[in-house]
Amino acid sequence: MSNVVITGAQWGDEGKGKIVDLLTEDADYIVRYQGGHNAGHTVVIGDKEFILHLIPSGILRPGKKCVIGNGVVIDPHALLAEIDGLNEKGIEIRDNFFISGRAHIIMPYHRAIEKESEKLKGSLRIGTTGRGIGPSYADKIARVGIRIVDLIDREVFREKLRINLQEMNYFLERLYGVKGFVLDDVYHEYMGYAEKLRGFVADTALLLDRAIGEGKNILFEGAQGTHLDVDHGTYPYVTSSNATSGGACTGSGVGPTKIDKVLGVVKAYTTRVGSGPFPTELKDSTGEYLRERGREYGATTGRPRRCGWFDALATSYAAKVNGFTQMAITKLDVLDDLEEIKICVGYRYNGKRYDEMPSELKVLEGCEPVYESMEGWRASTSGISKYEALPHKAKRYIERVKELIGIEIDIISTGFRRDETILLRKIF
Ligand code: IMP
Repeated sequence: MSNVVITGAQWGDEGKGKIVDLLTEDADYIVRYQGGHNAGHTVVIGDKEFILHLIPSGILRPGKKCVIGNGVVIDPHALLAEIDGLNEKGIEIRDNFFISGRAHIIMPYHRAIEKESEKLKGSLRIGTTGRGIGPSYADKIARVGIRIVDLIDREVFREKLRINLQEMNYFLERLYGVKGFVLDDVYHEYMGYAEKLRGFVADTALLLDRAIGEGKNILFEGAQGTHLDVDHGTYPYVTSSNATSGGACTGSGVGPTKIDKVLGVVKAYTTRVGSGPFPTELKDSTGEYLRERGREYGATTGRPRRCGWFDALATSYAAKVNGFTQMAITKLDVLDDLEEIKICVGYRYNGKRYDEMPSELKVLEGCEPVYESMEGWRASTSGISKYEALPHKAKRYIERVKELIGIEIDIISTGFRRDETILLRKIF
């Protein structure tokens, strides 16, 4: 029995979807613990590509049980569309899927408020995915959120909605000057969702506690990444949840004493979507090369991702705040054609050198990265599944990353497909 948390070590899009899919083979339960349909996990099986936003990618393997934990915010419309899409592709979703009754839901006013608030911020906008994630979490913390258990109780739902709309419509109409929402319209729309979702609702904390008691393997699937975490990320340019490993406990109801391993997923270079500091960003032809070769376009919004060199400060900070026990490095093959590869080993700001990731936004925004340079291997690593078969210089790059972060690398990914992977140690 083993319980493993997977988290992203950078700004999301590290390739967690593929790693989760690989490890799912040995897991009995796969649990999402934070975020919402702002996430997009791409999984390629044979010649079929699946992009999942809310449902854990474990759903693609028969016999696995998938859970959306209490820490997730659920847009019922998006969830039902995802269920329908999977059903159409022949993936069955019945007694293998559970939603926490304590998860909060995203309402149409959350999306509307987010859109207007981003507009108002102008150049200071966060560059959100526009899914209503932040306002839904804001309501949760302000204790006015609506949970799944409230949604499936007609009377409770209507009353909470009535009260919330008074406030939300005030903001929308008076502050932003846009149309508010009509109680009956939203109520009827959401009652339709409630009926379709009712059968999936469970006390998932108890369900997981039982599973752990039975010795099952549980995989916790983090969304986004460490530097988008609301506490540990580049605040305020973050998402509104705890994407770090601690979120797996609070977002699922499984205590920290039950977690055995934390696997950090890191891309062989760095990407970021949306606004916010990104010290190693490349705004030149190398950045362009990484974007095209790495297909770096958002799985959720299609936005081009900002690309840059591997940042050892950002990753080693992630290793600490997550407590990584091992790492997976993805997309090594994207670096194949580069003559020179750089690794950021420090920042310089106002004449001062930083060897650890600072928390001040102005330092992160204004710093110069200090780079170490390595010769590229200029040979294909695409699809390689044995460590011995990697070019010598590619091994040196991996070794250097391992040395800088101080954590073993157990998995190296060299392509999108399951078999394009070097597995150095078994995780479960
Ligand atoms: P939100 O999560 O939609 O509120 O967006 C907040 C920030 O997180 C924005 O910069 C988004 O681009 C970023 N973000 C949210 N989800 C993801 C993800 O799955 N991958 C990468 N960036 C994300």
